Amino acid sequence: MQPQLKSKVRCADREVGEVTKVIMDPLSHDVSHLVVSMNGSGERQVSIGAVQTVTEDLVQLRSSSSEVIALPPFKREDYVTLHEVEIPGLERHIHVESGEVLVPLPELERNVKRRTFFANLTYVTGLFIGLPLVYPVLKFLMNPMYASLDNRWLKVGNVAKVKAEDVGTQFQYKRRVKEAYMPESEIEKNVWVVKATPSVLEKVYQGKDMEFRDSAGKPIWTNKKDVPFLAFSGKCPHLGCGFKWRNHKVLGPVFLCPCHLSIYDASGKVLDGPAPRSLDLMPIQVSSSGEVQIIDMEFKAGTKSQTRIV
Ligand code: FES
Repeated sequence: MQPQLKSKVRCADREVGEVTKVIMDPLSHDVSHLVVSMNGSGERQVSIGAVQTVTEDLVQLRSSSSEVIALPPFKREDYVTLHEVEIPGLERHIHVESGEVLVPLPELERNVKRRTFFANLTYVTGLFIGLPLVYPVLKFLMNPMYASLDNRWLKVGNVAKVKAEDVGTQFQYKRRVKEAYMPESEIEKNVWVVKATPSVLEKVYQGKDMEFRDSAGKPIWTNKKDVPFLAFSGKCPHLGCGFKWRNHKVLGPVFLCPCHLSIYDASGKVLDGPAPRSLDLMPIQVSSSGEVQIIDMEFKAGTKSQTRIV
């Protein structure tokens, strides 16, 4: 039985409040957390793993009331309601009464918030008002906007991490970025590496090596059609969310994007969902000692053709 909104919540020692929201996992379609209103002391997000039993109007937790009170306050801004984001098929798994059913805010939209758009806009407006005075400084600061794309190789890990063929393995790496007038910062990124069987390689390369060129059209690298390692950019070509390697009930192991449920096979080909193109391949090389290097590339999301932006 799924926990119901408005059900009372009891800890091991006493009643602490009632369920005000239910959070669903967009991938498994199961309830992942409850949001409990603590009798006037704010809301706490309680993992479904802490639930012992559920009856029609009571959720019994294993934890004590002091453990629940000690949880960090619930952050409503990290979630959206099912009215704001469409997760196909999720309704079939929801049996809670009508009320606020939430899913995590897609990663892309979180990033936009974090960029504190309006704060930056204020700085830019100020700069433009004083443009005649600050032109030399502005020119210097804006220079990175026109810098050519970075085609340096980045080490992301060792290929020993890849345990099986035609399976997505995530490698994380850090990269220093300088966006226009913002100070340089370090961001975490990820790339999915697949050790591909010949049939998957054939699907990807269709018998031809893949050449990558810089913005001036000069060749920078060629992925050879018979080298079994593929590197896919960690951003979904639909709207740029991070996707995962998951076992789909019908399709088996696939890349699945939780934001709007685009599904890709191990070759990056779209099997389902709104994605306009296959996953984006990046230049990859693997040394004799197994060190994996990539050239970090990002492409414009939402378009059928590939346009490199990073
Ligand atoms: S961002 Fe929409 S499906 Fe991935």
